[in-house]
Amino acid sequence: MLSDNLKVLLASTQSFAIKSQNFHWNIEGSNFPQYHEFYDNLYNDVSATIDRIAEYIRILGHYTPGSLQRYAELSIIQDQTRIPRAELMFAETLQDTQKMTELVVGMFNEATNDNQQGIANFMAELQDLYGKKAWFIRSILKKERE
Ligand SMILES: [Fe+2]
Repeated sequence: MLSDNLKVLLASTQSFAIKSQNFHWNIEGSNFPQYHEFYDNLYNDVSATIDRIAEYIRILGHYTPGSLQRYAELSIIQDQTRIPRAELMFAETLQDTQKMTELVVGMFNEATNDNQQGIANFMAELQDLYGKKAWFIRSILKKERE
């Protein structure tokens, strides 16, 4: 059901945002200023989508989960309790952007089938957001050409 998937998306987005902030604070390396700023932008851009997801759940007539316990139960984004090296942080975030992309692409189709065009449009925006972030990370991780 679309509202159930919106709950999963909300929880996953919260987890993604928390992890982005964790990496923003704790990343290290010779390109620290850019890395620190990349994760700051990621955190801000992803966080900016949270309220809209939550309000769509209410618009569909359901209550919105709002507790850390529920988010942990519902999220498809694995929590990170450790401090990985910079390259591993980026690799993990790249995988997470791919998980988010798969989720919103599936939800775009579901919303379209349900004639929820506003939600479908929002899912398309999220696909663009996570696709653009994935491109940045792939470019960061790519070894410089000879
Ligand atoms: Fe900061």
